[in-house]
Amino acid sequence: MQTQEQLNRIQIGPETLSLPQIDKRGTNVSSYIIRGGNRLLGDVKVSGSKNAALGIISAAMLLDGPCWVDNVPDIADLNVMLEICRALGAQIKRESDGTLYINPCTITTCEATYDKVRSIRGSYYLLGALLGRMNRASIYMPGGCNFGTRPIDQHMKGFESLGASVTIEYGKINVEAEHLRGEHIFLDVVSVGATINIMIAAVKAEGTTVIENAAREPHIVDVANFLNTMGANVRGAGTDVIRISGTPVLEANATYSIIPDQIEAGTYMLAAALTRGDVTVHDIIPKHMEPLTAKMEEMGVKTEVGDDTIRVYMEPDQQLRAANFKTMPYPGFPTDLQPQTTVLLCVAEGSSKMLENVWENRFQYIDDLKTMGAEIMVAGHTAIIAGSSQLTGAKVMARDLRAGAAMVLAGLAATGETEITDIGKIERGYENFVKKMRMIGADIARIVE
Ligand code: UD1
Repeated sequence: MQTQEQLNRIQIGPETLSLPQIDKRGTNVSSYIIRGGNRLLGDVKVSGSKNAALGIISAAMLLDGPCWVDNVPDIADLNVMLEICRALGAQIKRESDGTLYINPCTITTCEATYDKVRSIRGSYYLLGALLGRMNRASIYMPGGCNFGTRPIDQHMKGFESLGASVTIEYGKINVEAEHLRGEHIFLDVVSVGATINIMIAAVKAEGTTVIENAAREPHIVDVANFLNTMGANVRGAGTDVIRISGTPVLEANATYSIIPDQIEAGTYMLAAALTRGDVTVHDIIPKHMEPLTAKMEEMGVKTEVGDDTIRVYMEPDQQLRAANFKTMPYPGFPTDLQPQTTVLLCVAEGSSKMLENVWENRFQYIDDLKTMGAEIMVAGHTAIIAGSSQLTGAKVMARDLRAGAAMVLAGLAATGETEITDIGKIERGYENFVKKMRMIGADIARIVE
C-alpha cells in the first residue's frame, strides 16, 4: 500500500509526464505504481520508431540542404540525439505541427565528444554520417542497454573497406579517410547497426558499395528510404544485399515521415493478450508485426488485421497455450520483444521455451519475474518457463528499456500492487507510456520522489 505522502506525489495526469529525475549517482528516482487485474480495452496509437528515428536523424547530418522529418517520437533517447546534433552545430527545431526541421549545413565539427554520446546506442550512427560529410569523425564510445558485450567490429570493418583508418583511444573512436570509395563488404554477423552505419557512410563515397549479409529490419528500409528521398541512390534495403551508388551532393529540401514503432506496437499487443483484453493498436504496419502476430495466434490469442491496425482480443476466461520462441534478426522474432513475451509465457498453460539468439545476456530481468511468482529456469541462452503462474505484485526494477516494459506488463497481470523503479530506462523508448496505458484502462501512476 502507498503512504499518504506517496499518494500526494502521484502524477495522475499523463500531461505531467516529464523526464525522470536523476539523483547524483545517476540513479533514477522515479517509479511506476501499478495495480494489476484490469482487462485492457480500447484503442491505442503507436508513435514513430525509435530506432528508425535514431538512424534518420544521424543520416540527416550528411545532407547538403535542410529537411523536415515527421513522426519523430518525443522520447528521452531521441531528445539526447537531437542535443548531440545541435552540439555539432546543426540547426534543429520542432515546428508547431510536431515536424522536426533539420539543417545540417551549419555543422562546424566532426567531433561528437559531448558527454551524452555515451548515454545512448544510436549515437554511433554519427560515425557514418560525419565520415561521409567531412571524411573524419571522432565520437565517444556509445552506451545503451546492457545486454553483455556489444562489439562494433563490423562497423569498423565496413569503414575500413571504404578507405578509412580507424583508431580507438581514450574512450573515443576516430575514423578518417582521404576520400571514401565504394567497396564490396561482407558482414560476418547480421548487424542492424553496422548495416545502417556503413550504408550512411557509403552514400557519398565514390563509386558503388555493396553490403552483403545485411540486416533486413524495417528501420533499415526506413533509413534507406529517407536517404533516397533526400537524393541518395540506395537499392535493396530489406534484402540481404544493399547497393549504394555514391552521390556527391544530397540536395535534400524534402519531407520524410518515420515508420511506426514495431516494438512499441508489440508491447501493447502483448499487454492486451496478457490481461485478456480487447485492444486495437493503430497507426502500424501490420506486415512488420507478422513475427509476433503469428506466434500470438499459435498461443490462442485472436487477432484481426486491418490496413494499419491490429485488434488483439481474448475472452476473459480464455487460457493461453504454451509456445516456444527463438529470437532472430528480422524477419525472425525480435529480441526487443523477448522480455515482454516471456511475461505472457508465464501465464500460459504449460511449459514454454524462450531462446535468445541475438544478445549474450538478456535475461537479467528474470530474477525480478521470479520475485513476482514466475517459475523460470535459465540454461545458457534458453529460459524454460513453467507457465500457469499467478503473478503477485512486488517491488522490482527496470533493468533496461524492454526489460522495464516487461515489468509493467507483469504488473498489469499480477494481483496486488507492483512498484517499478528506475523507470527512466523505460521512458528512453516509449512515448507517453503512462498516458497510453491509462487510456486503455491500466491502473498505472508515475511517482516522482
Ligand atoms: C539494434 C537495436 C537494438 C536491438 C538490436 C537487434 C538500435 C539503436 N538498437 O542494436 O534495440 O536489440 O538491433 O535487433 O537500433 N555484433 C557484432 N559486431 C558488430 C555489431 C554487432 O558481433 O559490429 C553482434 C552483437 O553482439 C549482437 C548481434 O550482432 O549479438 C546483433 O547486433 P546489432 O544488430 O548490431 O544490434 P544493434 O544495432 O547494436
